[in-house]
Amino acid sequence: MNVVTAIGEARDRIRAARAEGKRIGFVPTMGYLHRGHLELVEISKRHSEYQVMSIFVNRIQFNDPKDFSSYPKDLQRDLDLARAAGVDLVFTPDEGEMYRNNLTTVDVSLLTDHLCGASRPGHFKGVFTVVSKLFNIIQPDVSIFGQKDIQQAVSIEKMVFDLNFPVKMIIAPTVREQDGLAMSSRNKHLDAEKRRNSVCIYRSLKRAEELLVSGETDSGRIRSAMEKTVLEGSPDRIDYISIVDYASLQPVERVSGKSVIAVAVFFGSTRLIDNMIIEFEGGGIKCVY
Ligand code: PAJ
Repeated sequence: MNVVTAIGEARDRIRAARAEGKRIGFVPTMGYLHRGHLELVEISKRHSEYQVMSIFVNRIQFNDPKDFSSYPKDLQRDLDLARAAGVDLVFTPDEGEMYRNNLTTVDVSLLTDHLCGASRPGHFKGVFTVVSKLFNIIQPDVSIFGQKDIQQAVSIEKMVFDLNFPVKMIIAPTVREQDGLAMSSRNKHLDAEKRRNSVCIYRSLKRAEELLVSGETDSGRIRSAMEKTVLEGSPDRIDYISIVDYASLQPVERVSGKSVIAVAVFFGSTRLIDNMIIEFEGGGIKCVY
């Protein structure tokens, strides 16, 4: 496995792999890797022969400077995990080289007004800008994103389409801890009690599934039942519990087509998110976590 920091060197290595006829798979991350990230690499391997992972804590997507400075880091551990997962190239760009000018940004309108976009101003612009830059540097054939960050994944799909990036995007299901909590680098910030209580987020999605399966489609009623379940975990604050249309990410009053139920909750200053995708199939309902 090679580890490179300079953009030119990353390009040279990838060019050499492509010259050998290999397809390039790409998993962008901010490091502090967990099984969720490694699962994305596994999926990438099914679609490509040369695996690139970026590890870059992208300052411009943090609306809260404290969240940026406390973001967990352990590069040595990350490199060991990446190597064991079969990554060929880890790209750890240098902030100075990535943002030498920092005059150009990429944004996707409409999709980011709600959910995390509402409570994290500027966050998604930072994400789209860095992902565009990474796509241009790496020029992957395929890139894998996690459903855990559903608003990010769906918006990047639109960006890829709108800006004609020649990359196939795959959205992978959320990898969870045994009790159901979605894996996240930020889970490290939870003390034992908050960690135990945080399972209320997953339980609230399960509660929504029960209601949907029993025929409930009213968003308001589903959301109040979910809120009750979340409050059983004594969170410090509920940021949102929203039911939105999958394609437009706009709130819906009734669940009818492909939709997303998304939740964001604060435990202390740690903000945890989770979601499930609802699809209607052959008269029944399928929920994907
Ligand atoms: P990060 O939070 O490190 O996540 C990197 C990728 O891993 C994202 O696609 C995210 O959705 C996915 N992921 C995180 N937790 C997951 C889980 N439990 N199961 C499955 N996939 C999971 O998302 C970012 O970094 C950044 O915004 C980035 C795209 C790298 C741009 O800076």
